[in-house]
Amino acid sequence: MAFIIFFCVLILTFLDQPVTSGSELELLTRELLVTARKPEFFEWMRGVRRKIHEYPELGFEEHKTSEIIRSELDSLGVRYTWPVAKTGVVASIGSGSKPVFALRADMDALPLQELVEWEFKSKIDGKMHACGHDSHVAMLLGAAKLLQKNKNKLKGTVKLVFQPGEEGYSGAYHMLQHGALDDIDAIFFLHVLPSVPTGAIASRPGTILAGAGLFSVTITGKGGHAAVPHNSRDPILAAAFAILALQQIVSRETNPLEARVVTVGFIEGGQAANVIPESVKFGGTFRSLTSEGLSYLKERIKEVIELQAAVHRCNAVVDFKEEVPLPYPVVVNNEAMYEHGKKVGEPNVQFVPVTMGSEDFGFFSQKIAATIFVLGVKNESVKSDQPLHSPYFFIDEEALPIGAALDAAVAISYLENQVVETH
Ligand SMILES: *[C@@H]1O[C@H](CO)[C@@H](O)[C@H](O)[C@H]1NC(C)=O
Ligand SMILES: [Zn+2]
Ligand SMILES: [Zn+2]
Repeated sequence: MAFIIFFCVLILTFLDQPVTSGSELELLTRELLVTARKPEFFEWMRGVRRKIHEYPELGFEEHKTSEIIRSELDSLGVRYTWPVAKTGVVASIGSGSKPVFALRADMDALPLQELVEWEFKSKIDGKMHACGHDSHVAMLLGAAKLLQKNKNKLKGTVKLVFQPGEEGYSGAYHMLQHGALDDIDAIFFLHVLPSVPTGAIASRPGTILAGAGLFSVTITGKGGHAAVPHNSRDPILAAAFAILALQQIVSRETNPLEARVVTVGFIEGGQAANVIPESVKFGGTFRSLTSEGLSYLKERIKEVIELQAAVHRCNAVVDFKEEVPLPYPVVVNNEAMYEHGKKVGEPNVQFVPVTMGSEDFGFFSQKIAATIFVLGVKNESVKSDQPLHSPYFFIDEEALPIGAALDAAVAISYLENQVVETH
């Protein structure tokens, strides 16, 4: 007990000093963690997460989630701007002047039936927080509480960005269209990851996630009786040739030392074995680690499909959902911001390999000094080792205070040290 009191006094004194050395940072993170792990704090954060988990909402429909966020911010006495991109909320803590550091949480769920049987299972059939965005919101609210306690000591402003529509809706892009984010100097994002154990975080400098686009195709021919194929134009055959031809873009046109993906993920066409259908639909995703790679793939996917359809006397229309907008840009971690996050998380920071996954956080990293870290939630004793987007996805809620403390520590120490040069 005496030790704990001594420790807290030490920290309070410390918060008045500029954060410089590694051990002071470790102390800051640890103290914030002690606060976030206090039963009352932890149970509040876990309660918020569970409430959002029970009522998952898809992209740009996060009305209830947004309401929960605003009501918690009201209780904390934190100011915010709303609506930003329909359901988004941007809260602000600190001096109101520069530098401005942002922490981000995405809010949307997935169109997926939860198969985990537990007390707080999704109450909405066919919708589930299978990417952990419910926990991201809870942790950012936790960070808000920690920062609000220290608001007079902040050497600038922290903006808390609650973003809608990450899962394919480019919510980040739409948030950036709003003036509420114009003054941000740098942004940090923590995503839960079930392959990293609870207690650890992980990241890497530079490129970390791919840029990714979607395409959907309609090939139209001429339907008819299967017995007289010469009176029809067979879109099934045209689609089959087109899908095979797409495989050569990566295998024959891409430098083997570069990573690119073209995957066809669905195909729909025809209903009867003795009928040639009028049309066939299929679609997929393309990914690259460079924006040039993305443009190249997009151009060639369109060309290959249209020309293959023409070979078979059919017509193809390829849709890239540019109005969303898509593709998501490549996610590139700013080196200084990565180093900063690493310093704050020390000694529990691991290195992650690049993956061809994607995140609309790429819209931020394209414009602002940005970094993404993953937060470990793997704990075999609670079965939280299922992959993201799995109907069995589950998180170890013990990670929530770690995420909240880390978010807050990264923000506080950024403002102390002005990690990234601003103009
Ligand atoms: C895993 O979860 C169990 C049960 O909640 C807990 O006792 C244990 O400490 C957790 N392990 C880690 C590494 O957090
Ligand atoms: Zn996801
Ligand atoms: Zn996600």
